[in-house]
Amino acid sequence: MKKTWMSSHVLLVAPLAFALAFGAAASIHVPLAHADDASCGSKENPCPLQKWMRQNMAPALAAGDNAGLAASFDKVAASSPDASWSTWSQFAKRGSDAAKKGDAAAAKAACKSCHEAYKDKYKAQYRMKAPPR
Ligand code: HEC
Repeated sequence: MKKTWMSSHVLLVAPLAFALAFGAAASIHVPLAHADDASCGSKENPCPLQKWMRQNMAPALAAGDNAGLAASFDKVAASSPDASWSTWSQFAKRGSDAAKKGDAAAAKAACKSCHEAYKDKYKAQYRMKAPPR
């Protein structure tokens, strides 16, 4: 019984190790292929930050989860994609402060400020960038 398990285990693992070893060189282009994936952006296949916003910012705002919203704003504040986008972090920090005070209207205004200033630019330049963690 044990022997059978062992041999079937080897049968499964050996080709996998083989594939990994030979895939290593080829895998270099995988992230690039993904970065070139211009097909994201739809509701069904959102791009990374778009998905993150939908999963974190929108629900926290809608639920009035001020602590969660502030934490997400802080993550956004720390993840400006471009050093020259100086107001990115300011907008996000403003949102975080508003959420901590329970000021939903001001939090929402911070969402809007950033979206108006950076959404189009972000989509054009950084769409495939990894979202905040
Ligand atoms: C500092 C910048 C910034 C702040 C603050 C911000 N966002 Fe965003 N948000 C973006 C960017 C940039 C995108 C576009 C990402 C993309 O489409 O790839 C985006 C996209 C979104 C989307 C996806 C829309 C779509 O087309 O599917 C939602 C939803 C969203 N944000 C909600 C919010 C909410 C709610 C808040 C505030 C509670 C907020 N965002 C605050 C930068 C920000």
